[in-house]
Amino acid sequence: MIDRDKAFRILSDIGQEHILKYYDELDNDEKKDLLDQIEITDFSVLENLDSEKNSDSLRGTFEPLGAVTIKDIASESSRYTKIGTDAIKNGKVAAVLLAGGQGTRLGFDKPKGMFNIGVDEELYIFQCLINNLMDVVRLAGAWVPLYIMTSEKNNKETVDFFKEKNYFGYDPSYVRFFIQDMAPSVDMSGKVLMESRSKISLSPNGNGGWFSSLVRAGLLDEIKEKGVEWINVFAVDNVLQRIADPGFVGAVIDSGLQSGGKVVSKASPDERVGVLCLEDGRPSIVEYYEMTEEMRTLVDDNGELAYKYGVILNYLFSVEKLEEICDRKMPVHVVEKKIPYMDDNGNLIKPESPNGHKFETLVLDMVHMQDSCLAYEVVREKEFAPVKNAVGVDSVESARELLKANGIKI
Ligand code: UTP
Repeated sequence: MIDRDKAFRILSDIGQEHILKYYDELDNDEKKDLLDQIEITDFSVLENLDSEKNSDSLRGTFEPLGAVTIKDIASESSRYTKIGTDAIKNGKVAAVLLAGGQGTRLGFDKPKGMFNIGVDEELYIFQCLINNLMDVVRLAGAWVPLYIMTSEKNNKETVDFFKEKNYFGYDPSYVRFFIQDMAPSVDMSGKVLMESRSKISLSPNGNGGWFSSLVRAGLLDEIKEKGVEWINVFAVDNVLQRIADPGFVGAVIDSGLQSGGKVVSKASPDERVGVLCLEDGRPSIVEYYEMTEEMRTLVDDNGELAYKYGVILNYLFSVEKLEEICDRKMPVHVVEKKIPYMDDNGNLIKPESPNGHKFETLVLDMVHMQDSCLAYEVVREKEFAPVKNAVGVDSVESARELLKANGIKI
């Protein structure tokens, strides 16, 4: 363990000595706890505040990428479904639920999956996802191994909730939990925030580290022993999410491409969604704020938007490729968020508006590490009901409407 002087040197090199401000007033356990945190925290992420070093400013040349469209899929549906169902039956497909986020926009103080989206009856977000996955289990006659990523902040509550609810009918022997890494968060001037006098404010470090966290948790061996070849990664907060969708799995396998991403046609050129495209000839996702006006409005020969296919955080990756790219450094994104912190008087403040930055790696950056990616278009109204906010766009309200429109009792 490092001592106070070593900790001071580490922090003063990066202008963060204030972390030790209350050190002399702490009891011995708190002192040890704080020194431990200083020793294990990866402060190098703070370098990303320097815009010149930040990978967000280093993008290549973008080009549109086509998709297998809803129409194409309709004519091949039974073939794709057969290929996908066979792969699931043969144990070649696993699913990873990304549930380590803090869901600050929703303003719900438990894990987002524990949110009850039901109105007349209880229907939790986790339950919606399990119900959707059960459709596939029934069709294939086989369980899909499900790996759930949580964070230090929400792991216990999530695990306890699944137990309490009997895994919503899923076979628990096919469910594993693993915990993602944390990163320090800073205020708007780049100073590391404190949660208390002895606790650095740490936040989950984004969804991009899911595979390395899964490997660190020792789960890759199990995945390989089972013979899993494909992993479907998806977000917790889309209640219409189709998981291990046999049509999607089948289409990706049939295409011979290295990966796949579910996409929806953009509702308008200005919709705030990342678009699957090519960057320097490789698959990539361009964020809406990175697109120029010309890119947003560009049309192809058929008069359709050229950058048309928005991603919905549902990807299929091959285990072989994931292993190959696992050690590569992922770009770190600096994201503005509401971060609880201790003020100068020692009070814990829960801010109403964004007050600082978190550092996140993103699963979408894994797409750019693939040699190829199949964009697979799905019907937005049937598969995309994101719950990001309490009201308004992508909210509890809009997701409830979409659940009802799909005949789900809420
Ligand atoms: P979001 O980008 O919506 O982030 O996550 P969030 O933290 O959940 O919500 P806000 O922005 O604070 O409101 C997209 C998906 O990635 C997961 C989330 O749980 C969600 O499924 N995620 C996000 C992680 O698993 N870990 C993270 O560190 C961040």
